Amino acid sequence: MAKRPNHSHDQGPPPEGTIEQEFGVPIPGKVLAPELWCQTALKKLPPLGFIDIDALFGRQAPLIVDVGCGNGRYSLGSALDRREFDHLAADLLPVVIRYATRRGNQRGLTNLKFCVVDGERLVTQLLPAARVRELHCYHPQPYPGPGEGHGRMIQPFFLAEVIRVLEPEGLFVVQTDNDRYWHDIRIMAEEFFDFQHHPARWPDAPRGRSRREIYALQKGMPIYRGIGKPKAGITYEEALIRAGNLTRRGSKEKIGAVAPSAKQDSTRTPPRHCPDGP
Ligand SMILES: C[S@@+](CC[C@H](N)C(=O)[O-])C[C@H]1O[C@@H](n2cnc3c(N)ncnc32)[C@H](O)[C@@H]1O
Repeated sequence: MAKRPNHSHDQGPPPEGTIEQEFGVPIPGKVLAPELWCQTALKKLPPLGFIDIDALFGRQAPLIVDVGCGNGRYSLGSALDRREFDHLAADLLPVVIRYATRRGNQRGLTNLKFCVVDGERLVTQLLPAARVRELHCYHPQPYPGPGEGHGRMIQPFFLAEVIRVLEPEGLFVVQTDNDRYWHDIRIMAEEFFDFQHHPARWPDAPRGRSRREIYALQKGMPIYRGIGKPKAGITYEEALIRAGNLTRRGSKEKIGAVAPSAKQDSTRTPPRHCPDGP
């Protein structure tokens, strides 16, 4: 069985059976024969209204969303392991989505779609209410510089929208290697979710679920993992009230929380702190 690190575009498609690696860790799955490839790119998003998830996948299945998916490693692995779930993974950067879709296509993953979109737009405007079983967010950009905190995706109103899109028993999974961001995420997430710190490595991927987690583990960086279920009975309206309260508290206590209206969404600075790559 062929093994190669990162296949270059110029070499043409990798041969059937290829197992790719990054940082010495195999990327889930292997390249199938071309007749089994599929299309995992979601290129057209509705200008108004929600994505029709059932139509997108041609079936009704629970949905897993990966926001800021980078090169898609987590979603590739989950889509391979959990065929009965559909997966929608999104990132702001077209280049990482190109790597992700190529791998999804070559693994024949009909239960996986990748799209280029701002995660905040995806969650706020494009996902229907109570349609998501799990929402994952691995190593969102921490925007650690002075005055950059407003660019962060995990904010109180974002979490209120996560409450809107999750099924009542759904799951929110978030992790970061940035202490300050983790401090803020925890304070915010505990308002909306029964939120637990999950210090151990993920049993399904002890060497790391995502590219950034693998990198951080290999560099000996701390990794903060959290999982949460929506608080019993919490409604979207209640979540919005909590988000407003947190935002007011955040500006006093400097927990990096600002209301979306204070952000410059249309001019979001491109991310700079991720070792992006194939
Ligand atoms: C540190 S990387 C982590 C990537 C991947 N989740 C991982 O753990 O390897 C952060 C990713 O978030 C993406 N990103 C930053 N801001 C975003 C936003 N507003 N919406 C969607 N993706 C975003 C970046 O393009 C980058 O791929």
